[in-house]
Amino acid sequence: MSDAHNAILEPLINETDLHAGISQLVDRIADDFDGDELYVIGLLRGSFMFTADLVRLLYRRDVRLVIDFMTVASYGSGTESSGEVNMMRDVHLDLTDKPVLLVDDILDTGRTLSFASQHLSEFKLASLKTCVFLDKPSRRVVPFEADYVGFTVPDLFVVGYGLDFDGRYRELPHLSVIQTPRSTGSDHPDHTPP
Ligand code: XMP
Repeated sequence: MSDAHNAILEPLINETDLHAGISQLVDRIADDFDGDELYVIGLLRGSFMFTADLVRLLYRRDVRLVIDFMTVASYGSGTESSGEVNMMRDVHLDLTDKPVLLVDDILDTGRTLSFASQHLSEFKLASLKTCVFLDKPSRRVVPFEADYVGFTVPDLFVVGYGLDFDGRYRELPHLSVIQTPRSTGSDHPDHTPP
């Protein structure tokens, strides 16, 4: 499929499979946090859709939740990231002694989740688990494994379901692979689509 932005999008995970995978993930999380009040921290912006679906399904499984969001950003020039991740908006909750589930859209180099986990650990949490919609293990630079993974994907630049390319395609209800002539991604400066 070619669209108005001159990009070619190839579907990778359709809506039905996507929701089935997330449902299975929620079953595991609900079993693990049975009876606890779980503090869900979504990483903006990419995880907004995943987090929204996740918390609604957790609600249906009777998991009591407290929800907040954090924004972190990595900086770089052109297609090369400096590898440095910075806090843009911190959590506004007291997380001391709380069980926390940190949610992100995709685990790629591992820098973002490593930074965010390290930051949250400073709150002296009861526990910290991480949950990602996607894992791209072949891209890892910093060793990091998420506790809950929706789907493992190959080293392709993907958009949709919250993931963007220059702010576009976040609204897609499914996941697609994007191929563009030449451009840079907004959330992910060190990983330019071909
Ligand atoms: P790191 O490398 O820190 O990156 O694990 C996590 C962030 O990078 C973005 N990212 C992508 N965004 N399609 C996207 O739209 C991709 O294929 C992709 N790979 C990484 C994303 O924002 C994620 O939070």
